Amino acid sequence: MRIYERYTADEIKGFGLLGAMPEHVGIIMDGNGRWATKRLTPRSFGHRAGMEALHEIVREAHCLGIKALTVYAFSTENWQRPVQEVNALFGLLTEYFEREIDELDANGVRIIALGDLEPFPAKVKACMVEAINRTAGNSGLNFCIAINYGSRAEIVRAVKRIVESGAAAEDIGEQAISDNLYTAGLPELDLIIRTAGEQRLSNFLLWQAAYAEFVFTPVLWPDFTPAEFRSCLAEYMKRTRRFGKVME
Ligand code: FPP
Repeated sequence: MRIYERYTADEIKGFGLLGAMPEHVGIIMDGNGRWATKRLTPRSFGHRAGMEALHEIVREAHCLGIKALTVYAFSTENWQRPVQEVNALFGLLTEYFEREIDELDANGVRIIALGDLEPFPAKVKACMVEAINRTAGNSGLNFCIAINYGSRAEIVRAVKRIVESGAAAEDIGEQAISDNLYTAGLPELDLIIRTAGEQRLSNFLLWQAAYAEFVFTPVLWPDFTPAEFRSCLAEYMKRTRRFGKVME
């Protein structure tokens, strides 16, 4: 088990990270299948390599002092993949949490699930719930895993929760919607990174992405290293964020 050291301000400057660090980064971890196919191996090999890449990126996010990292691990559409692939992904999720939980917890990482855990096999669900409950009081990196997640369904769920609370129409505003999303209480999403060269959102954090910056990289997710992550952050730091206003 390793305790992760935070980078010093000088080290962060040395990485070329000159500007405000994003507080909340979302990642669409794409390209596991292509990575595996290029090596003439089953797609599940790509997901396993993707799990190892994720381990490194979570540690890097912590060391850089990022407050929230949200990764898209399993979308509501992913149920349509071949059953062997879905089962392999479930196996990896369980393995990941069984293997990483002590280290994540020791480093103050708080695990949050975005999505409905109900349809998952009992073992996957139990392991996720245990990780969430065990780390609920931690105050370090918020590591949010979007599983069985779809952003439109998340927004519909938020609206239903508001209606069920008996709120009057005039009291329903943007804050009420935000407060009823899975991401309630987390910092605003600043940056979305998508790997593997695709340039779309695929039903990921649609509401939260209203003012987020996007960085796309051709690197396949299993090859996405901490150095590549830092270069995406450096790209973000070069941008001028206007939030719809005219800059003086
Ligand atoms: C997209 O690649 C990736 C996924 C659908 C799953 C992401 C899963 C992991 C990174 C591994 C395990 C995660 C955890 C939390 C343990 P793709 O299969 O769509 O790739 P392709 O577009 O090249 O086919």
